Amino acid sequence: MAKKDLDWGNLPFGYMKTDKRFVANFKDGAWDKGCMTDDDKVVITECAGVLQYAQTCFEGLKAYETADGRIVTFRPDLNASRMADSCRRLEMPVFPEDKFVQACLDVVKANIDWVPPYGSGATLYLRPYMFGSNAVIGVKPADEYQFRILCTPVGPYFKGGVKPIKVRISDLDRAAPHGTGDIKAGLNYAMSLYNIVDAHKCGYAENIYTDPASHTYIEETGGANILFVTKDGKLVTPKSNSILPSITRRSLVQVAKDYLHIEVEERQVNKNELADFAEIGLCGTAAVISPIGQIDDHGKSIMVPAGMDEIGPVLGKLRETLTGIQMGTVEAPKGWIYEIK
Ligand code: PLP
Ligand code: COI
Repeated sequence: MAKKDLDWGNLPFGYMKTDKRFVANFKDGAWDKGCMTDDDKVVITECAGVLQYAQTCFEGLKAYETADGRIVTFRPDLNASRMADSCRRLEMPVFPEDKFVQACLDVVKANIDWVPPYGSGATLYLRPYMFGSNAVIGVKPADEYQFRILCTPVGPYFKGGVKPIKVRISDLDRAAPHGTGDIKAGLNYAMSLYNIVDAHKCGYAENIYTDPASHTYIEETGGANILFVTKDGKLVTPKSNSILPSITRRSLVQVAKDYLHIEVEERQVNKNELADFAEIGLCGTAAVISPIGQIDDHGKSIMVPAGMDEIGPVLGKLRETLTGIQMGTVEAPKGWIYEIK
């Protein structure tokens, strides 16, 4: 088979129906073995747990074509274990982590012609997700669940790719203290929708959330963790138990220390410190590393010294090294790359 005939260099970050998806069902206390299907439709009762009480969580990871023509994916084992954490917190049954990883590889293999070519700037985005599928009317967990993995080719999450974005400090919260900010629950995203629509209307690419208890410390944005670079070249990442433990961020911390010999600090970042950093950016599977050029905080604009034209030198080097690892031009730490073809 040949690659699909798509305009790979101009793909949006959007959904497109591909050939196959993985589906498994949980019933009578056990998962079935699951299968690959052509059917993109989900048929569930009108009273399903997911529809009534938002009992759903998801993951996001990507498959890449490497410089030498292999097809690989990046650290799917960490998505499996984070999804297991999400499931436990939402009273959902864990899909076995080894089977999760295998199903991700199988979905890529079944849609191999949809993996964007090396150098196109696009990637194949995988979206594993699970939801309560049987009828629930009292507030309680469902007894039956469906786990699916779909995939879709995507371009950059922010228009303009690596062009610095403008963001604002949000008035609203995405997570509660001791809430669900540290898991990938659908409900965290539902409650951010009003705020992201408003941010876009006001000319911002994202909202920066502060800690929900005191609104003093920087947490993350609606869809990515935040990275800071100090004027003396240290990488700083916010420490909080209400942000998502980003796989990209955890990988970059290791890349910074082991590949680039950059000092890393994980600590609380006060919002009054924002003007002191040399570079600021977002990181995540979808965002990769996206530089921030300007942060508006209630009438005050913080212009990040790295500027509005291009990514700064430290974040640029981190981005180049991480994408090099993902696309096979930089040697990966053991166990990070899973080869599909
Ligand atoms: N934070 C939020 C709220 C996210 O939705 C994501 C995306 O997955 C991230 C951070 C980045 O996490 P990862 O690097 O694992 O994709
Ligand atoms: C990801 O980066 O995989 C995410 O889930 C972020 C999402 C907002 C697209």
